[in-house]
Amino acid sequence: MESIQQNLLQRLADGRFHSGQELGEQMGLTRAAVWKYIRELRGLGLAVQSVRGRGYRVAGGLSLLDESAIHQALPENSRQRIGCVEVFTSLPSTSSYLKDKPVRPGQVAVCLAETQTQGRGRRGRHWVSPFAANIYASIKLQLSLEQNIYGSLSLLIGVAICRLLKEVGIQDASVKWPNDVFVNNAKLAGVLIEFNGEANGPVNAVIGMGLNVRMPPSAGEQIDQDWIDLDSLIPGVARHRNRVCARLVDTVLSVLEQSEQGGVAEILTEWRELDMLFDREVVLQLPNRQISGRAAGINAQGHLLIEQSEGQLVAFASGEVSVRVAS
Ligand code: BTN
Repeated sequence: MESIQQNLLQRLADGRFHSGQELGEQMGLTRAAVWKYIRELRGLGLAVQSVRGRGYRVAGGLSLLDESAIHQALPENSRQRIGCVEVFTSLPSTSSYLKDKPVRPGQVAVCLAETQTQGRGRRGRHWVSPFAANIYASIKLQLSLEQNIYGSLSLLIGVAICRLLKEVGIQDASVKWPNDVFVNNAKLAGVLIEFNGEANGPVNAVIGMGLNVRMPPSAGEQIDQDWIDLDSLIPGVARHRNRVCARLVDTVLSVLEQSEQGGVAEILTEWRELDMLFDREVVLQLPNRQISGRAAGINAQGHLLIEQSEGQLVAFASGEVSVRVAS
């Protein structure tokens, strides 16, 4: 994180006016240099107002991500596993950043960014990542799960996110196979899982999570499906983004620990209770065809079961499949 930019952001986070002269004196910069950094922040998508005679402000203030606040909000056992929590003002993608970062066995790397310029969703889609608004988090670690479980990892993480939501008071979150978390029929969070590693060797997983916290309406307009954010469900929660990040990371680590200790079946049972597609007519989009049928839950590998008109069940692995409720 560039320290001057970070310093300026922290001063503007209180939502008050700061004159160029005051900022310049406090930061050891000329007024022209302050202006240059303000322009850079605007370039990241931050709405910095400038009013003649009063200075600059970010209306409504900002709750910025803070490495040490997140680290301190983690319970001791998670803190020990996580080498460091890296927070960036801007990255192309937190998951791309972690992709080439080596992790030792047992160690966890966590990366967060205030904004992503090339945020990635499933199936090559763009993940809209407005500045200092939501949570864009990636976790990298070595996993040792049974081989046929890796395909259901996004389902396990969906359960972790729903556990976190319950903890903060949202009881009615549901999961949409394979990687979405919904509330009130609108998407609140998405999960992107990427693996690398050698055959028969340890598997490195990068778990990318996007959780809408306080989506600015202008950014929301770029999203091509119904969405919802945490702050509209729990007003004021956006002020506690650091704590939500810490709880998210900790809940994911505890679900992974439970999975590695033989608890996958139990977590998939929990998933089934949250399944928003169950018993609904759905349309599956495969790379080269569409399939319609009734969603009938998942099998032990986390594959989606579809009952077709003849009554037979067909299982689909997530891969390049997307699913929607039939209209
Ligand atoms: C989806 O629903 O399609 C998955 C979205 C995953 C988005 C997150 S944001 C943090 C991480 N970095 C990325 O580029 N993508 C994931």
